[in-house]
Amino acid sequence: MSESTDFHLGINQGVAPVTYGQGDRPPRGDYAQAKADYTCEQHWERYSAADHDLYRRLYERQAARLPGLACEEFIDAVAHLGAPHRIPRFDVLSEKLRCATGWEVVAVPGLIPEEAFFALLAQRRFPVTGWIRKPEEFDYVVEPDVFHDLFGHVPLLFNPMFADYMQAYGAGGLKASRLEACEYLARLYWYTVEFGLIDTPAGLRAYGAGILSSTGELRHSVASTEPRRIGFDLERIMRTRYRIDSFQTSYFVIDSFAQLFAATAPDFTPVYRRVADVGVLEADSLLSTDRLY
Ligand code: PHE
Ligand code: FE
Repeated sequence: MSESTDFHLGINQGVAPVTYGQGDRPPRGDYAQAKADYTCEQHWERYSAADHDLYRRLYERQAARLPGLACEEFIDAVAHLGAPHRIPRFDVLSEKLRCATGWEVVAVPGLIPEEAFFALLAQRRFPVTGWIRKPEEFDYVVEPDVFHDLFGHVPLLFNPMFADYMQAYGAGGLKASRLEACEYLARLYWYTVEFGLIDTPAGLRAYGAGILSSTGELRHSVASTEPRRIGFDLERIMRTRYRIDSFQTSYFVIDSFAQLFAATAPDFTPVYRRVADVGVLEADSLLSTDRLY
């Protein structure tokens, strides 16, 4: 693993992208200070000048890489994060988000259990890790930090259609927990919210947060000849394992956020049943029905 900043690596065993405690190290945040819903104070005043400076360097490096690789909706919305020279105050950012789409960001100590995660999303509250990585983790951090969560995820919460998708995902997650289908739904999160690509008139672009906050994977996902890029197919995605130890071998491409929203609107109960019947696919598998880009 040379270049990826993906903290997803090694966190889970291919099931839920948001469950802590399954990795080989204890989570890093201070969970003792969290409330029952896992939210906590941001304590903005506790960030040091070095923390703000690290955020600025991460932001500036990544922002410079976006043109031609990130989707326009994302590039346009990054500015809402405010000036790059300081870690944003979540309360100020939430005020802007509430006006735009009714979302807010809430601080959490780090990765949280999936049911808590789903419940927050269903309430249009996006959990953002409070702490920032250490300087020596500039290129690589094993858990999501404030930079990934903010820079990667928050811009698209300003997009009305994507914002609705995230809430529907949260509600769908609570339902999937009851149906014991979280594994399938987690793959949908992985291949859309974290590693999704979108087809635009200008070409393929990234909208997934795991790509957009990663130094190496952004170009790899959009421009490398190595990975496969497959047209969005809900059941195909739900069957497909993903890589947590390297760049993805396959990405799934949507035509629009409206398509994503419409394709995921139906009740998943029968979908989960079908997916359970047909069986799992490896991350790099290829089907004759795949629509390749
Ligand atoms: N339609 C899904 C269900 O019935 C809910 C959902 C929507 C899940 C959008 C994910 C994304 O379970
Ligand atoms: Fe993420």
